[in-house]
Amino acid sequence: MSTLKSFFFLLLPLLLQFHSGKSDLQLNYYSESCPRAEDINKEQVTKLYHKHGNTAVSWIRNLFHDCVVKSCDASLLLDAANGNESEKASSRSFGMRNFKYINTIKEALENECPMTVSCADIVALSARDGAVMLGGPYIQMKTGRKDSKETYASEVENSIPNHNDTMSLVLSTFQSIGIDTEGTVALLGAHSVGRVHCTNIVHRLYPTVDPTLDPDYAEYLKGRCPSPYPDPKAVEYARNDRETPMVLDNMYYKNILNHKGLLIVDQELVSDPRTYPFVEKMAADNGYFHEQFSRALMIMSENNPLSGDEGEIRRDCRFVNSK
Ligand code: HEM
Ligand SMILES: *[C@@H]1O[C@H](CO)[C@@H](O)[C@H](O)[C@H]1NC(C)=O
Ligand SMILES: *[C@@H]1O[C@H](CO)[C@@H](O)[C@H](O)[C@H]1NC(C)=O
Repeated sequence: MSTLKSFFFLLLPLLLQFHSGKSDLQLNYYSESCPRAEDINKEQVTKLYHKHGNTAVSWIRNLFHDCVVKSCDASLLLDAANGNESEKASSRSFGMRNFKYINTIKEALENECPMTVSCADIVALSARDGAVMLGGPYIQMKTGRKDSKETYASEVENSIPNHNDTMSLVLSTFQSIGIDTEGTVALLGAHSVGRVHCTNIVHRLYPTVDPTLDPDYAEYLKGRCPSPYPDPKAVEYARNDRETPMVLDNMYYKNILNHKGLLIVDQELVSDPRTYPFVEKMAADNGYFHEQFSRALMIMSENNPLSGDEGEIRRDCRFVNSK
């Protein structure tokens, strides 16, 4: 027994070392190389929010779509190149917007410290600062992520759940990156802000109304989405939360308890006994929601970061640096 124990204690530093090789993230990583990096990021996010409030909404969704696909490595931001499809153009990224304003943030950082701050850190920090602009919690985030040299468009469908996937699949997806059921319920609270296009709603309205949808709400949604075959290019949508559409608050949980969720996955949080207790708790307590949202977003933001030579610092977030 004691030999086994000491064997374990000998092994422990090795394991820790191996682990830290994979995650070089630290608080204030740019304190020497670019001391104003985090301030500049915040200034830009604030400015953009005052011009286009929904940029802050986009920054939160970006973190999800970047980090859950392989790693938080800004692979999401790459344009299609050399015959490779881009992640942002894949069907699962439908509705994502404001990518051009990432360049605005990056330019401000390049002016201050060229080739120093990664696009992956911009994705993380902008999500953090965007959440604050939307009345959400302040989340302490580490930095030091590197940018990928490739895009993983073919992985997107396997990594990002679809709007109508089962709760079991959703829970196992998040579990695979270290996020438990409570954290998953909290992360979906991001659907307290932003919008859903009619293409992702009409299957719950036509030909018959989904019985898990509040009938009055269904009527309202039919007004927003009058055709069962919306033109995917038309900007026809419903807001996630009619009461506080631009506030990252627990109204989402109150809505889904009242059968006013837009996506099937939103409604499933209420009908699934594994998630329902957390929905009730979050609906009752905004502070608890914010606490769990922060915890889970931080775990998501640290998923599998690239270490030193696996990645690079992109000059332009849309392209890998040429060799
Ligand atoms: C099971 C997991 C999830 C699914 C299936 C899902 C699906 C979707 C869909 C279908 C839309 C609407 C797209 C459109 O029609 O325009 C959407 C919007 C959004 N999602 Fe999720 N999502 C999930 C989890 C998350 C997470 C974890 C976050 C962030 C923490 C997030 C943040 C957002 C935001 C902010 C929007 C609004 C975007 C905007 O208005 O521009 N989602 N999501
Ligand atoms: C494009 O695909 C090739 C191989 O198919 C790969 O080597 C290259 O890294 C990819 N480029 C990008 C930008 O992902
Ligand atoms: C989920 O929605 C997609 C369209 O977004 C559809 O092709 C698919 O059949 C749906 N799956 C289920 C299980 O309803």
